[in-house]
Amino acid sequence: MQLIATCAFGLEKLVYDEIKKLGLWVVKTEDGKVIFEGDESALIQANLWLRCADRIMIKIAEFKATTFDELFDEINALEWEKYIEINDVFPIKATSVKSILHSEPAIQSIVKKAIVKKLQKRYHTEILPENSNTTYQIIVKANKDQFLISIDSSGESLHKRGYRTKTNIAPIKETLAAALIKLSDWMPEKTLVDPFCGSGTIAIEAAMIANNIAPGLKRQFAFQNWSWINQKLFQKIYNEALNSVKIIEKLPIYCFDIDSEVLKIAEQNAKNAGFENMHFKRSDFYDLDFAKFSNCTFITNPPYGERMQDIEDVEQIYRELGEKFKQTKNSSLFLITSDESFQDLFNRKADKNRKLFNGGIRCYLYSYLDPN
Ligand SMILES: C[S@@+](CC[C@H](N)C(=O)[O-])C[C@H]1O[C@@H](n2cnc3c(N)ncnc32)[C@H](O)[C@@H]1O
Repeated sequence: MQLIATCAFGLEKLVYDEIKKLGLWVVKTEDGKVIFEGDESALIQANLWLRCADRIMIKIAEFKATTFDELFDEINALEWEKYIEINDVFPIKATSVKSILHSEPAIQSIVKKAIVKKLQKRYHTEILPENSNTTYQIIVKANKDQFLISIDSSGESLHKRGYRTKTNIAPIKETLAAALIKLSDWMPEKTLVDPFCGSGTIAIEAAMIANNIAPGLKRQFAFQNWSWINQKLFQKIYNEALNSVKIIEKLPIYCFDIDSEVLKIAEQNAKNAGFENMHFKRSDFYDLDFAKFSNCTFITNPPYGERMQDIEDVEQIYRELGEKFKQTKNSSLFLITSDESFQDLFNRKADKNRKLFNGGIRCYLYSYLDPN
């Protein structure tokens, strides 16, 4: 079957690399998605292991339709009984962009009718009660009259790893935090510093990568309720993931934040993820002595001003960060912000500058290598 890993714009190459690392065959990469070939085992592996993807979808069909009759016929011709049993729940979510069939509620209703008709015929029944615990979320995406039909195998988005029970008001998504680690030069031998750690997501994702902890180990997936998925195979792949954890004692990861309440949340999140001894300390960034940091990778998501603080405070932080970073030795900085004037305020052009999206906000990852 063909599977689709969806992701935030800008993360496609990272997701592509993660899929290749699982030994799977990538068919193509498009904006916000990577399409790959795989069986049941690939579907389970991808859900458990992909750190930067949002969801794993099963591609059911792709076709052109410009009338509701065409849409009905295409959907009705598909073998829905291969997936959905008589009692199963199958909600439809449609989006439509630049298509003649533009009404999303109308598309949803036609697709639902077409599937219901098909299943009624296959199961020789008038009634589909939709009262089991099993859900097949069907996703319909129309783009320039081209329809892509898929089923979501993940359930909750994959950024929900299960460790983050509370957050501060502007947390970074776990998938994006993992991406920042992968785009940085950090290795577990180097010290990682997050001076604006908030709920600790960057540090926790780094520790999970360093310890080879599969991101999906502490959560459930929609496919776990599906009757045609071999649950013994799931258990085998899950146990293999558990056994491949390699705990590195005393990881050099240091986190600071000005807000002591948010630090309590960060500590709890780290504990939930299995990291009891991570270093969290309350400190105003202005009081940190950067001259003491050598051979460090700073990975951070400071306030942007959009959601949190006064823009002037934020600009002052960025200016001061530029000065403080000059005092570090043999260190690098990877910083994500939506502020397009960051490089001017920091007073140095980034060695690399990459466009990324943080929950719909267009951001840039500014990478700075050792200044000296
Ligand atoms: C965008 S949030 C970081 C979110 C974090 N990545 C997470 O996953 O929750 C920015 C953080 O910077 C902190 N902060 C703001 N001003 C600060 C300062 N002067 N010194 C240290 N931390 C500060 C805020 O308390 C907030 O937690």
